[in-house]
Amino acid sequence: DQNKIWQGRFSGQSAEEVDVFNSSISFDYVLYEEDIKGSMAHANMLGKQNIISEEDVSSILEGLEGILMDINNGALQFDPKAEDIHMFIEAELTSRIGDAGKKLHTGRSRNDQVALDLRLYVKKQAAEITDQLEAFESVLINQAEKHTETIMPGYTHLQIAQPVTFAHHLLAYAQMILRDIKRLKEVADHTDSMPLGNGALAGTTYPLDRQFVADQLGFKTVTANSLDGVSDRDFVLDMAYALSMVMMHLSRLSEEIILWCSQEFKFVELNDAFATGSSIMPQKKNPDVAELVRGKTGRAYGNLQTLLTMMKGIPLAYNKDMQEDKEALFDSISTVKLALSAMIPMMETMSVNVDRMRDAASKGFINATDCADYLTKKGLPFREAYGVIGGLVKYCIEEDLTLEELPLETYQSFHKLFEQDIYSVIDLSTCVNKRDIEGGPAPSAVKKQLAVLKEQLEIV
Ligand code: ARG
Repeated sequence: DQNKIWQGRFSGQSAEEVDVFNSSISFDYVLYEEDIKGSMAHANMLGKQNIISEEDVSSILEGLEGILMDINNGALQFDPKAEDIHMFIEAELTSRIGDAGKKLHTGRSRNDQVALDLRLYVKKQAAEITDQLEAFESVLINQAEKHTETIMPGYTHLQIAQPVTFAHHLLAYAQMILRDIKRLKEVADHTDSMPLGNGALAGTTYPLDRQFVADQLGFKTVTANSLDGVSDRDFVLDMAYALSMVMMHLSRLSEEIILWCSQEFKFVELNDAFATGSSIMPQKKNPDVAELVRGKTGRAYGNLQTLLTMMKGIPLAYNKDMQEDKEALFDSISTVKLALSAMIPMMETMSVNVDRMRDAASKGFINATDCADYLTKKGLPFREAYGVIGGLVKYCIEEDLTLEELPLETYQSFHKLFEQDIYSVIDLSTCVNKRDIEGGPAPSAVKKQLAVLKEQLEIV
């Protein structure tokens, strides 16, 4: 069309295919609120510095407010032919208020403008996702509080290893999510510098008050180098990495939920609202949510890779490659938000099969280590004790017995140090309760872990 803002330097029109290829409004429209708020702060500052008149400032602010309202209530549609959200809003403003609209872009470039919008957006989204993670953390803590005494098998190599409590298992995830919360706060911190005033790449000759804009928009500082300020996307990468970590944690938990829902485990049952059936097999109740979370994790990893690759060959300062930062970032954000919004209530309503967990824990010689420790505490070197119990376990497997079922005479035929008290030592509850070391699975240790976790959640 004839109306491109930058048409002046050109004699010919851009090809239609190029317009389509170049345009980013189909995805960067989500930045409209940040773009408008950023423009309002910029206009206020231009007025305060006497770069434009207060009259112009008022009509710009009024125009922008109207645009924001009309977008929010659906009266104004994004023009798919616009080059991007920035051009769309500026053009709309000028068509509404006339000449004053043409003064808004004084001392500003789309390069520092898009950097600003994106920083505002990342800060907002990091805060929203942090809220979701905190809600998730509370659900994990609540479930854990109900199950400090619930014994379940702990695994290595997915083989039954040593007994733990379900609370302890859940709190392992709570620790991961707590780190995610801290990580997202750090991302918001790294993002907290205001880039307006960097211009296209080399700052500006206008006497802008950068800190005034930063203060209005809630930024701690202003960016320190104009070349870096317009072309730094580290904060986007930090966000993409933090979100990949969130997905990785959710995916590990999902994998366990999927296993636990199987007939073979039956440790938990999902509420009907968070499971789905099969189109052909009437008996099925599938953990689709958990599977989808596991499946969608690849998106977050892919987006991180996209961003790293996109940035690696970009000479200073802004290059159009950087327009590609948005879809990757937006996709990671919406993936994490969607995943959390389904997983939070799923975990909240999940019921736990305490008996199944305990049954599973009583199989697989889960107390063999405790048996060896018994002999060690009676004076046998650990390696020797380990050898004795190896023989005992082999015998039990051959005879189809558990360690609990073995008569004392049999114990004593393997080693004379065995006495009647072996039975209480290898009792599952004893095995768990004795693991009361800091960070351990014993109910007493888990209660301490819970208390510390709640405190940390208060202060992050
Ligand atoms: N749509 C562009 C982006 O997302 C905005 C910045 C364009 N700047 C430019 N000089 N072409 O990166």
